[in-house]
Amino acid sequence: MPNLEKPKLINEMKLKLPSLSVNESAARAIVAAFAAQANPTVSEVADIKCVVSEAVTNCIVHAYPQTMGVIYITVQIYSNRSIRLEIRDRGVGIGDVRQARQPLFTTSPESERSGMGFTVMESFTDKMRVRSKIGKGTSVIMVKQLEDFSLFGR
Ligand SMILES: Nc1ncnc2c1ncn2[C@@H]1O[C@H](COP(=O)(O)OP(=O)(O)O)[C@@H](O)[C@H]1O
Ligand SMILES: [Mg+2]
Repeated sequence: MPNLEKPKLINEMKLKLPSLSVNESAARAIVAAFAAQANPTVSEVADIKCVVSEAVTNCIVHAYPQTMGVIYITVQIYSNRSIRLEIRDRGVGIGDVRQARQPLFTTSPESERSGMGFTVMESFTDKMRVRSKIGKGTSVIMVKQLEDFSLFGR
């Protein structure tokens, strides 16, 4: 029988990093190490690393262009084996989030950006929410439901 109880928060990590490009790989590795306690499969770990990398790269290149700012990362693990990731910045913000989320849309076509970051984040997770305000910053929340959600700690 499915467990209809509200999932409980089991563990949480908060990370604050300056928007240095070396912190893209650092964030990816640290989040993957923390998420490992929920026993993700190899492919689930690869998905998590990939979406963290995309979101953090966006903070580095788009949120704080030519400047340094702070990237705030929160990772939460729930009793149903879902992993909630929030990547937030206090950067330039996005004027039209709907447009920004479209596949191939990029405001940096001159660099080798593909415009597929949000598309990747959306397709490798189960839920993605983007909130942004010009001049205030952007928050990307993603939820990844690991398989066999009744088997926490298997
Ligand atoms: N954290 C952010 N702050 C400001 N703008 C952002 C942020 N993340 C994404 N964007 C905007 O959304 C667009 C699409 O992002 P994305 O899908 O990752 O493609 P890409 O990074 O290749 O341009 C970016 O070109 C940028 O204009
Ligand atoms: Mg991107």
